[in-house]
Amino acid sequence: AEFTVLCCGGGNAAQVATGLFAVRYKTIAVSFFADEAAKWKDALGDAEFELTTPGGGVMKSKPKDITNDPSVAKDADLILLVVPSFAHGEYFEKFAPYMKPGTIVATMPARSGGDILFASKLGDKAKDMIFCGFETLPWACRFTEWGKKATILGTKNNILAAVTPVSATKKALAKLQGLLGVNPQVLESPNNLGISLRNPGMIVHPGVMYGRWSPESWDGNPKDEAPLFYQGVDDFTETVLTGMTDEVQLLCRKMEEVAQGLDMKDACTLKQWYLDCYDGQMKDTSSLKACMNTNAAYDGLKHPCKEVDGKFMPDLKYRYLAEDIPTGLCFAKGLAEIVGLETPTIDKVMKWGQECIGLEIMVDGKMTGKDLAKTRAPQGMGITTLEAFLTASKIEAKT
Ligand code: NAI
Repeated sequence: AEFTVLCCGGGNAAQVATGLFAVRYKTIAVSFFADEAAKWKDALGDAEFELTTPGGGVMKSKPKDITNDPSVAKDADLILLVVPSFAHGEYFEKFAPYMKPGTIVATMPARSGGDILFASKLGDKAKDMIFCGFETLPWACRFTEWGKKATILGTKNNILAAVTPVSATKKALAKLQGLLGVNPQVLESPNNLGISLRNPGMIVHPGVMYGRWSPESWDGNPKDEAPLFYQGVDDFTETVLTGMTDEVQLLCRKMEEVAQGLDMKDACTLKQWYLDCYDGQMKDTSSLKACMNTNAAYDGLKHPCKEVDGKFMPDLKYRYLAEDIPTGLCFAKGLAEIVGLETPTIDKVMKWGQECIGLEIMVDGKMTGKDLAKTRAPQGMGITTLEAFLTASKIEAKT
């Protein structure tokens, strides 16, 4: 049968990926979000989807179908999720009854704990499937005419991806590279725990929000302008970010201690992540703050704000908190609790952030809140011991 790809989601990234893959492969776009699939199918009609590439070239293609029917997973060789991470669980769950053994399921970006969520949603079937977590999205992209036209603004040179089980890495990454084309180059990362703890969004987004809008630094009054997000990182915010990233590093060292031959090289500090990903685009790399303040890729990006009577109040329900706390920081905090590691900086950001997004995750510093199951905290997926965590992650314990 013809190699069949499901491209999931309906936002900027999913439309771009669908347009790109459909040029060469049988591609079915799937969205379970409200009536998005029907709307998209309507919008495109008989026309071809137009994708503009950074050089200005235009690629035209037509997905085989645009649907909300999960049974299309029965013919899929590869399923790619290009949606915000809070939606991953729904796709895993709905596809599970239909997927054939050997299906490659990739998430882009994975954020944290995607492999464990996948295993928990697929149950017994997970052992026959291949999960791939990408550290990020390869493109900066926007649709220009919803459902019909989109533009790739830039493509990263490299992106890291990890495969569970590790034995399927060569096969899965070769297929994914073929799908993406020559750029970006997909680089093999040793394991999905490394991808989970590398997740820069879980530090940067909640950390910078805390640094600007928590009672420690803000009086609650509206601002004349939306502050700059990255260029506006000050000394206080830097101490928050450094505290968080250092706590994650302690967690990485702890995991290396308890696991057999676990390679955590890709779960680097936030500063190292900037050096890896934005080399040559930062005028000053002497500190974390300088990397963020002088990164040309971030020029002019502002805090998410809402205008109120000509002034600006922060949008504290924006995905910087609503996505990155549940699917990022909760994973790190939950795992730290399992291994008995204190994380005072992460705790204070979590405590403030969970109130902003209206979730009860941590209670008295412990991961026992009633909304835990809405997060990627291992505890929310039924995992409360190190042994269970290592089993779920397919990582061998040290004997
Ligand atoms: P988007 O905001 O355009 O995605 C919206 C889509 O998400 C919707 O069309 C729908 O399919 C789904 N969705 C939204 N709310 C939902 C809900 N409540 N339940 C189920 N599904 C829902 O995001 P975009 O731009 O496509 O990005 C996807 C991911 O890639 C995000 O995690 C983003 O942070 C990341 N990313 C995007 C970049 C870009 O240039 N667009 C660059 C780097 C990362």
